[in-house]
Amino acid sequence: MKLKALVALLSDGQVHSGESLAQELGVSRTAIWKQVKRLMDRGFEVASIRGRGYQLMSRVDLLDSAMILAHLDEELAARIDLRVCDEVDSTNAEVLRQVAEGCGSKLPISIADCQTAGRGRRGRSWQSPRGENLYLSMGLVFHGGFSVLDGLSLVFGVAVAEALEMLGVTGVGLKWPNDIFLPAGKLGGILVELQGELQEGVVRVVVGIGINVHMLKAGGVDQPWSSLASACPDTEWTRNRVAAAVIGAVADAADDFSNKGFGVFHEPWQKRDIYNNRLIQAKDGELKGVGNGIDGSGNYLLVTSDGGVVPIRAGEISLRVAP
Ligand code: BTN
Repeated sequence: MKLKALVALLSDGQVHSGESLAQELGVSRTAIWKQVKRLMDRGFEVASIRGRGYQLMSRVDLLDSAMILAHLDEELAARIDLRVCDEVDSTNAEVLRQVAEGCGSKLPISIADCQTAGRGRRGRSWQSPRGENLYLSMGLVFHGGFSVLDGLSLVFGVAVAEALEMLGVTGVGLKWPNDIFLPAGKLGGILVELQGELQEGVVRVVVGIGINVHMLKAGGVDQPWSSLASACPDTEWTRNRVAAAVIGAVADAADDFSNKGFGVFHEPWQKRDIYNNRLIQAKDGELKGVGNGIDGSGNYLLVTSDGGVVPIRAGEISLRVAP
């Protein structure tokens, strides 16, 4: 019996007798009890009410491929290969497995309930607790060789920001190159990994997106952070809805980038720049200047005290507010 089927039955928050659950799932009452214990081990709060049955007390927000597809534009839904996983190491790695196993000409997309080895930028790990947040990766192909990819990671930041705004989130900012920010702190991050050239001039890119959705407390996160639930507590957030909005926006942005180039993303990125006009530093303080947005390739511009403009290239350099 799949744990997910039991959660789905209990997710209405009502009391269900062991007998009715056993009947619906075609197993014994003892098997139900064992699965309830497994649910509790995984952190779900399940009340066992003597003589009546079980009641799920925790919030459940199950990932469901049919629900995600239903929220997508029909044409897009027909051209994606969507894999919804219970647990993976990293959805970026899962997308590569998806490609290796063969998804034809479809766009590979993996999404997981939790990641055991979630990866962040610059070799960091990405906290990926079960059931809390969105962990989503998409495999995209671009023509024109690696040189066309300058600025691409900023494009994905704009796409995610627009998706969130479409869902009603206000105050979404971007921290160069592509961190998603709300006034209280970091809401999400994007990890872009380039694969080798598939054939001359054709490159595969895996874009991995993590967005804090329900998380209200986190251990081991070393900077101020936010989540959709904490920033917009009156909205009933579902990861399926957020996933669909992000998938739609990233697919559109990838098409626009391929057809029109980075130029069309310049202003949408710039207007969300959280460092604009602030004194910031790069290279651990070696370089200080006032944030002045991005150039036509997506490099970040710092105006130094002597009036010079220094472009910072994406990669290993990170920016932060100067003390
Ligand atoms: C960052 O450091 O800001 C980037 C974080 C990217 C996290 C996402 S979660 C889905 C995908 N799978 C991963 O292992 N990482 C990305």
